[in-house]
Amino acid sequence: MLVLGIETSCDETAAALVADGRVVRANVIGSQWERHRPYGGVVPEVAARAHHELLLPVLDRTLAEGGATYRDLDAVAVTHGPGLVGALLVGLAAGKAVALAHDAPLIGVNHLEGHVYAAQLEFGTLEPPAVALVVSGGHTNVALLAEDGTFATLGTTIDDAAGEAFDKVARFLGLPYPGGPEIDRAARTGDPAAIAFPRAKQDGSYDFSLSGLKTAVVRELRRREAAGQPAPIADVAASFQEAVVDVAVDKTLHAATDRGIEQVVIAGGVAANSRLRERMEAECATRGLRLLAPSPALCTDNGAMIAAAGTNRLALGERSALDLGVDPNLAL
Ligand code: KG4
Ligand code: ZN
Repeated sequence: MLVLGIETSCDETAAALVADGRVVRANVIGSQWERHRPYGGVVPEVAARAHHELLLPVLDRTLAEGGATYRDLDAVAVTHGPGLVGALLVGLAAGKAVALAHDAPLIGVNHLEGHVYAAQLEFGTLEPPAVALVVSGGHTNVALLAEDGTFATLGTTIDDAAGEAFDKVARFLGLPYPGGPEIDRAARTGDPAAIAFPRAKQDGSYDFSLSGLKTAVVRELRRREAAGQPAPIADVAASFQEAVVDVAVDKTLHAATDRGIEQVVIAGGVAANSRLRERMEAECATRGLRLLAPSPALCTDNGAMIAAAGTNRLALGERSALDLGVDPNLAL
């Protein structure tokens, strides 16, 4: 079962060939970071145009690296939401064209479900139940993957998404876009206990609130500036990161233990964060939980995770019609 996965929901133009939902034959990412960097964040119109330019070369490279032609495809899986509408439309149109021209079934994939299924590419078939922490540029979700394979959101952010908070704080610190990996790097030489930033939403729910933390970072930087002190970038990065990681680990593991679920998946770009991975590993080990943490390269947006999630849906007998639309707000 060879599936082409196409992902264009945000700022990565990505395609992959995956066999049997688990074996990655090719995984190509045409990054657009350089085009968005001057603006300090993703510009939707720039993203859509860049997908347009990059997608066909990315598809050509994917087939070449996977040693396949369009005729070898058993299906096409494509992200149809959530994400930027113009960006999603480019990938979906391409996916439909390939499916129609080569008489292959089409399956629309929820981007967030794709992130969770990245785990399947390294740990084998994802056997529910599991609690998944999906933390990306646009989303922060503690989700339950139920026994029947359906998802339910247990908790979400009431303001900023985790990746968005990383990107914004990086900008305040004068670090380039995307800020998550920059904060991760800067934090390595900082002290996570240097500044006591707030841990919000300690109210027993699984919801997150990160805007107060972001404001606390701004206030701290202003205070230092007013006192004529240089911004302690490494300490601010490490202390901010620790606050996000504390809340993310706490919410996720509470959800798992409250429901007696022994498997935890971390997914999405922020799951590439080295401190989050380290803390999650330690805490899961202490509680006897199995942690599925895909390699950082499979945590950030890619086509392989879309092919994996799509293969799973196809195996359940699902297909999408060629009039499938994009849904920028598609929920998990
Ligand atoms: O999943 P993703 O590639 O795209 C979306 O679906 O949004 O996630 C991108 C987000 C960005 O906000 C980026 O700064 C963040 O993931 N990110 C990280 C790290 N690597 C990427 N955040 C913290 N630490 C990292 N190492
Ligand atoms: Zn993503």
